[in-house]
Amino acid sequence: VSDMLADSFGRLHTYLRISLTERCNLRCQYCMPAEGAELTPSPQLLSQNEIVRLANLFVSSGVTKIRLTGGEPTIRKDIEDICLQLSKLNGLKTLAMTTNGIVLANKLPRLKECGLSLLNISLDTLVPAKFELMTRRKGHERVMKSIDAAIELGYNPVKVNCVVMRGFNDDEICDFVELTREKPINIRFIEFMPFDGNVWNVKKLVPYSEMLDIVVKRFTGLTRIKDDPVETAKNFRIDGHQGTVSFITSMTEHFCAGCNRLRLLADGNFKVCLFGPSEVSLRDPLRSGVDDNELKEIIGAAIKRKKAAHAGMFDIAKTPNRPMIHIGG
Ligand code: GTP
Ligand code: 5AD
Ligand code: SF4
Repeated sequence: VSDMLADSFGRLHTYLRISLTERCNLRCQYCMPAEGAELTPSPQLLSQNEIVRLANLFVSSGVTKIRLTGGEPTIRKDIEDICLQLSKLNGLKTLAMTTNGIVLANKLPRLKECGLSLLNISLDTLVPAKFELMTRRKGHERVMKSIDAAIELGYNPVKVNCVVMRGFNDDEICDFVELTREKPINIRFIEFMPFDGNVWNVKKLVPYSEMLDIVVKRFTGLTRIKDDPVETAKNFRIDGHQGTVSFITSMTEHFCAGCNRLRLLADGNFKVCLFGPSEVSLRDPLRSGVDDNELKEIIGAAIKRKKAAHAGMFDIAKTPNRPMIHIGG
């Protein structure tokens, strides 16, 4: 791994999250305001060639995992081509995607052929009417179908991301865990995080300790699985269940010490921390014709400025950041 990817705390950044679009076919409340978020004019978004050129530069420097995010990555028309190009990069071990699953089921066989190896699908409720309330759109059944399509195609585990919000879906935690009895899925309960435009409030946050308590009270044989030090999730298995259960505790027990993640946004901005407001454009130097070495210097310098950890939930909530729809998680 090249020195470019190391920060001043010795963390090696081998995982790049690329946001492919700022558009989405849902309007989730925790992600954006009802009116949607401002869109960058298309000429200012990265083209497929620009994405591949930058990805190549990261992979040749030591990045081994790329995750495609959005907005909603599957609504980008050239998604199959992008997967194909990226999966061919020499040194890349994992090509992942985080998707809302709305238009996934039909596209998935082809995406798999194009090299998509790991799949995370967002689903916050098992009740169709609540899905409509949260996402401001219809589509619950389509997401459920996509999860089953992913299982059938052999993705194992299919990770299901569930953002837990008090008063909305905290009463469904056990129902989600119940799904892991028969399905080889990994249900990941995520603490609600503050972003611009999502009306975050600590009262809506259900802390990890409370979620764990709910699961422990109802299910016996819950065992912590040793997780990778760079993982976002704390993982558990349950005796007799095919699937697993995890918690992503960004707010009450952050995992910044093991952070290996970098972000390339759809407009070509490079972001070294999900909550760090500082961003640097890679698109502008790229378009002005700089060579790879100059780009590597810009990237390396940004990584060296990365902080040891985020500032804590109350400070994060006060600091301007992008809306989640622009960052892609
Ligand atoms: P895997 O690669 O399968 O482990 O997934 P992931 O957790 O890296 O990515 P995913 O897109 O599924 O994100 C799940 C949740 O973790 C979302 O709420 C993300 O916002 C959050 N998350 C992802 N990366 C980071 C990070 O670097 N810091 C923090 N605090 N949260 C993150
Ligand atoms: N807090 C926690 N997780 C969030 N996600 C989107 N917004 C938030 C938030 N405010 C999740 C999505 C998706 C992943 C990329 O991030 O549900 O699964
Ligand atoms: Fe990494 Fe920033 Fe997330 Fe912490 S908050 S894990 S430093 S991206």
